[in-house]
Amino acid sequence: MFFEVKNLRKWFGGVKAVDGVSLSVNQGEICSVIGPNGAGKTTLFNLITGFIRPDSGEVIFLDEDVTGKSPKLITERGIARSFQIVNIFPRLTVYENIMVAVLAQQIPETRRPAVSWEPETAGSRNRSSHAAQASIVG
Ligand SMILES: Nc1ncnc2c1ncn2[C@@H]1O[C@H](COP(=O)(O)OP(=O)(O)OP(=O)(O)O)[C@@H](O)[C@H]1O
Ligand SMILES: [Mg+2]
Repeated sequence: MFFEVKNLRKWFGGVKAVDGVSLSVNQGEICSVIGPNGAGKTTLFNLITGFIRPDSGEVIFLDEDVTGKSPKLITERGIARSFQIVNIFPRLTVYENIMVAVLAQQIPETRRPAVSWEPETAGSRNRSSHAAQASIVG
């Protein structure tokens, strides 16, 4: 199995934020986690990406148990996340911001996603070399 969550649980005191969640995703499959405010979506992603540790359960990626591992290790294994509120390095250029994310993945080349960037073809009003703080985010 490509990616699997087994019976994951995280309670905050009496709040059962994630209570026995299991799911599996095949390679190439696109899935969504949906639910109302407070359903536990962000908590689930925080558990998967190592921002918080589960009370119990497992997160398995490419047959490796990454449950409760650090965000650094989990990122190196190839799991990435984005945030609802975008954080950038405002004084780096747009291009440099993207490269930070790519270079942060110090994983073997064979496991890296293909990344290509052709600033000169990125549109008639090329903004890749502008400071990111001057760019529209969203
Ligand atoms: N660090 C925390 N400490 C205590 N309670 C928390 C913590 N993080 C989340 N919760 C609670 O866990 C529950 C799930 O919250 P979570 O943010 O995961 O929901 P969500 O599905 O992402 O909601 P939204 O759609 O509003 O983003 C909520 O009741 C929330 O108040
Ligand atoms: Mg959320």
